[in-house]
Amino acid sequence: MSRPARIFRPTPAAARAQAAWIVAIEPWRGLGYRAEALGRYLARKARARAVWAARTSPHGPPLGVVVADDGVLLGAFIALLAVRPEASGQGLGRRLVEHVAAKTFAKRRWLYTSADGNNLAALRFYRRLGFARVGRLPDLVRRGRVEILLRRPAPREGHGEGKDRPRRRPIS
Ligand SMILES: CC(C)(COP(=O)(O)OP(=O)(O)OC[C@H]1O[C@@H](n2cnc3c(N)ncnc32)[C@H](O)[C@@H]1OP(=O)(O)O)[C@@H](O)C(=O)NCCC(=O)NCCS
Repeated sequence: MSRPARIFRPTPAAARAQAAWIVAIEPWRGLGYRAEALGRYLARKARARAVWAARTSPHGPPLGVVVADDGVLLGAFIALLAVRPEASGQGLGRRLVEHVAAKTFAKRRWLYTSADGNNLAALRFYRRLGFARVGRLPDLVRRGRVEILLRRPAPREGHGEGKDRPRRRPIS
């Protein structure tokens, strides 16, 4: 049985170091991402407190990483989610998304993400976690590719549909 994952905020240096294995897996490998550039991005996002990582032993290496940008379309946007192939299927991806979801839904209505239309594994994973397809973004990442925009609503008793939220009036 796999050990429970711990979620933590990596330092900018630790976040930067994850780029080496992330660029070696799909979809980043096929898109031609370089470790140096992705590492700079991860370090910048970690400084902005937008990166979380998962590990299964107290001082073990990060086995999964998520980047979530807050304040997007009444919610937050998962810009990157990666689990090391040797650690996949143990619930780490779910733990990382649920961690971001809990933080987001404490104050916002929607959690968004996107995945390449050909990345069926990611699309199935996100559907399993309660995301629904809300749009197509042709040519977003690469010309000729279609990025699928997905979103998950806050639980009904959460902030989004809360009973203390003012009733919306119909637009007249
Ligand atoms: C997609 C990814 C994040 C999933 O992470 P993971 O840790 O292996 O997934 P989990 O073990 O947490 O799985 C969570 C649920 O999704 C399901 N799931 C995971 N991968 C799946 C797949 N390929 N097809 C169908 N369902 C899948 C699991 O069965 C599980 O369901 P359950 O909890 O109800 O049993 C990981 O495979 C990955 O990093 N892929 C490469 C990068 C990528 O595509 N990122 C996302 C888009 S950019």
